[in-house]
Amino acid sequence: MAAEILNGVEVAEHIKQGVAARVKELAERGIKPGLAVVLVGDNPASKVYVGSKVKTCEALGLYSEKYELPPDTTTERLLSVIQDLNQRDEIDGILVQAPLPSQIDSKLIFDSVDPAKDVDGFHTTNVGRLVRNEDALVPCTPAGIIELLDYYKIPISGANAVVIGRSDIVGKPMAMLMLHRNATVTICHSKTRDLPGVARQADILIAAIGRTAMVTGDFVREGAVVVDVGMNNATTTEEVERIFPEAERVKRLEVLSKRGSTLVGDVEPRTVIDKAGWLTPVPGGVGPLTIAMLMKNTLRAAEKRREEKRV
Ligand code: GUN
Repeated sequence: MAAEILNGVEVAEHIKQGVAARVKELAERGIKPGLAVVLVGDNPASKVYVGSKVKTCEALGLYSEKYELPPDTTTERLLSVIQDLNQRDEIDGILVQAPLPSQIDSKLIFDSVDPAKDVDGFHTTNVGRLVRNEDALVPCTPAGIIELLDYYKIPISGANAVVIGRSDIVGKPMAMLMLHRNATVTICHSKTRDLPGVARQADILIAAIGRTAMVTGDFVREGAVVVDVGMNNATTTEEVERIFPEAERVKRLEVLSKRGSTLVGDVEPRTVIDKAGWLTPVPGGVGPLTIAMLMKNTLRAAEKRREEKRV
């Protein structure tokens, strides 16, 4: 039996509708949550992400500003942009698009954002609060995955959750969120012995490694929930034929010939689709959730900052 599809587009729409409704209520009180998005350099993928973040703000009634800085921007220059945004009352959320160029001290930059405006949840203070299970702004992708699992009523408490990947943006916060929901959590990485064997223990398997179709059917227990966080490109006919089930190949080969590549995750659908119980597609799975959660975090930051000001 083919896996049920976890539809990230549908869940993202649901989240965004909730945000838009609340933004409308705030507008009646003269409040408009504002997001500043900062992009350094000209990474084409980052440009697309930043563009869609700004567009989504407009669609939901949030105020937004976009800053595009040249690739040779210094840490000092970027710091001064962020410090200015920290001071401005109409800005509730600040997002500095990662990855930053190598001359920039990324950790210093993420820690320069006011924790109350840190809608990415990258600041040391928010990381610490998340670890202590205190009220925190939480990274958008893992927070979105929890919303996805909840939307489909997939039980987390008591489940064996295996996270492949230990990044600060996805793997580590994902593991923490699952732990706080009482899952038994294993984090795997490049040095893990018998990775497929460990992954097969999972009731919920999260693939966040950034390696094209690395997670094959051999990694998946029959009926497991598989969440694919990967955003990679397949660029050859051979890859497309190896990665995708027959039913999807024609469409994928069309995309490949039109655009020179087709989006593929960290999971190989051809071998996973008939083993998993549930699977997120790429595209249309985790991706849309990240932006929806950014909107939710910006709304939350706006509400919280105003609450704190009243006291
Ligand atoms: N680059 C890839 N994912 C993200 C994200 O969630 N936030 C930021 N700021 N940069 C990213």
